Amino acid sequence: MADEKKRLFTGLQTSGQLHIGNYLGALKPFVELYGEYESYLMVADYHALTSLKDPKQLTGGIVDVVADYVAAGVNPAQATIFKQSDVPEHTELAWIFDCLVSVPFLQQAHAYKDKVAKGLEANAGLFTYPMLMAADILLYDTDIVPVGEDQRQHIEYAREAAAKFNTAYGETFKEPKEHIPESVGTIPGVDGKKMSKSYGNTIPLFGTDDAIRAAVMSIKTDSTAVGAPLDTDKDITFALHRHFTPNLAEIQKRYNDGTIGYKESKELLAHNIIATVAPMREKRAALSREAVIQILKDGAEVARARASEKMKEVRQKIGVALY
Ligand code: ADP
Ligand code: TRP
Repeated sequence: MADEKKRLFTGLQTSGQLHIGNYLGALKPFVELYGEYESYLMVADYHALTSLKDPKQLTGGIVDVVADYVAAGVNPAQATIFKQSDVPEHTELAWIFDCLVSVPFLQQAHAYKDKVAKGLEANAGLFTYPMLMAADILLYDTDIVPVGEDQRQHIEYAREAAAKFNTAYGETFKEPKEHIPESVGTIPGVDGKKMSKSYGNTIPLFGTDDAIRAAVMSIKTDSTAVGAPLDTDKDITFALHRHFTPNLAEIQKRYNDGTIGYKESKELLAHNIIATVAPMREKRAALSREAVIQILKDGAEVARARASEKMKEVRQKIGVALY
């Protein structure tokens, strides 16, 4: 018997202009993983609607996130890439789950609790968000769901939804497991704090050579005199060398010997970052909007075929399939 691949499912959030922290912490680990599985990558556009009300931004975000992942190394021929709104079975199943779980259960969800604690408006979509996510995952008999730590609770909710349905109507859904990639640690920004778009301390992933160089040259350094040894444990530039520089041991030695200064180290780093990201950037630039649309259309067909089969079974089990 051909050994069947296990199934992987994940939802992609639109995330704005990506930086190298996003690449190292999220995209790269995913690219290294997805090929071992039968993989589904879904753009969570209906989830985005809980907070994003600008149609242009939503459309742009969908196209961008697909282009980002493809440019970073996801081969559309080796994964089903689609958007949530193209497969209405997701919202349909979410409704059924909504009818199985209690309000107090949903009130325990962090995403909802955090928003309410901050005094922000929580719409009903945000409240039932975990059941739409459960539907996303469970429709595909998913084995593993790669996500960040912040999504752990949502996978527990998906397991709970599966268990509740299975108890009520008989074994139907597989209980998925989260896969939280081993952390690459926190990538520092140019000021030494966590690199984050909200701190304005990023090195752009798809920026021009000049933009990357300018960001790298602005990395904060101390006032160690030229010719004195530099501390590899404290230097932000060296922390980034660890992820981009092939001859790291040699650079480390030069730091210890004091034979490299911050300026040269930064120039080398910029060169190495550009060498890594330039092919991705070119791939992204060459990927037309039409090509992205085709990827999504092809993916929707595959996803919809699978999801509609599962929903047929669900409708029968809950008692609405008369004919
Ligand atoms: P930002 O902090 O720029 O808003 P996001 O919160 O949108 O970034 O992060 C998206 C994903 O990128 C996160 O789940 C995380 O895995 C990864 N990520 C973001 N910043 C870093 C960082 N500085 N180091 C490592 N990974 C990061
Ligand atoms: N909620 C996820 C996030 O914010 C995105 C998402 C939607 C998702 N549906 C999913 C992730 C299904 C994994 C599986 O990142």
